[in-house]
Amino acid sequence: MKRPPVRDDLQAMKGYHSPQLEVDVRLNTNEAPFPPPEDFEKAFLQEVQKVDWNRYPDRLTWSLREDLAELHQVEPQQVFVANGSNEVLQTICLTFGGHGRTALTFEPTYAMYGQIARIAQCSVANAQRDEAFRIPIDVLRRAIEVEEPDLTFLCSPNNPTGTPESLEVIQTALRLSSGAVVVDEAYGQFSDFTALDLFGAQDASESLIVTRTFSKTWSMAGVRLGYCVASPWMYEEFEKVVLPYHLDSVKQIAGRVALRFQDEMEHRVTQISDERDRVSKAMAELGVEVWPSQANFILFRTACCDLPGQEVWKRLLDRSVLVRNCSGWAGLTDCLRVTIGTEQENTIFLAALQEALQ
Ligand SMILES: Cc1ncc(COP(=O)(O)O)c(C=O)c1O
Repeated sequence: MKRPPVRDDLQAMKGYHSPQLEVDVRLNTNEAPFPPPEDFEKAFLQEVQKVDWNRYPDRLTWSLREDLAELHQVEPQQVFVANGSNEVLQTICLTFGGHGRTALTFEPTYAMYGQIARIAQCSVANAQRDEAFRIPIDVLRRAIEVEEPDLTFLCSPNNPTGTPESLEVIQTALRLSSGAVVVDEAYGQFSDFTALDLFGAQDASESLIVTRTFSKTWSMAGVRLGYCVASPWMYEEFEKVVLPYHLDSVKQIAGRVALRFQDEMEHRVTQISDERDRVSKAMAELGVEVWPSQANFILFRTACCDLPGQEVWKRLLDRSVLVRNCSGWAGLTDCLRVTIGTEQENTIFLAALQEALQ
């Protein structure tokens, strides 16, 4: 049988995979460990009865954009919503990327920036973070001067390291680059800093894009909903790129109802942050190298015990605990990343880790 040839560049690429394995304790994809509150479910079921199933959804996703704009004190025209922040990133790459254009990342960081940019036929330039996983200003400056990126990806807090980007880094990127600057705040609510504040400034940059998601702190990874805040002119461009009616009616309702439960979301963030600090301290006491995190996950290395990260990952899996194996990623030799779960899940993880290190 003849197979039609796929794109040449695609043949050389690998897909992005995070194993979905049946385990007792799943701490590998930075989801929230709790479902949304019960009242969310009740309110959602009520609202969903009003859906006109035979009609296309609101193409402009206007009501949801209005609600998000109110949440962030911006204009609805500045908000673009899509199926998860990955689709937002894809839309950004299709808008600013393409053949002959360059996307800049600071490694190690979220692998999808490079992946999505390449799919959008962009070339990808990688600069390196320092040992504390910060972006040194001189590295940033040089990378922008040399690469002249059409797109620069910053991630705050950075996945998989948990490090927030500094205001200085973001402002420098905005000042030096003539391309779009994306600040991915998928874990923004865990951090003490948000680039969204920059939209309030009188001379707010026209090239800043801040992305957020419902997948983490809003406990709605199953829904696939994300958004970005940017200059109103960008929305017009994103609209050209995204498919018509890309966001279904049910999802738009889910997002709007979720936003009614902001206090509960903030309570979950506090709970998870407290747990993160407990787990981090306990891991350090086991002799594990732990990086400070402002997110709902912790990056760690088990060099203390002369055990390769891959072996520790496997020993945890043998104990039905799944964490993210970053040990083969550039700049993260022997590193693993654990998502903060419920108190009980975290306790099971710590016990399994202690055993795995013996
Ligand atoms: C930094 C970062 N950005 C974006 C995403 C994608 O999130 P979403 O579920 O909204 O597509 C993730 C998911 O893990 C992430 O870690």
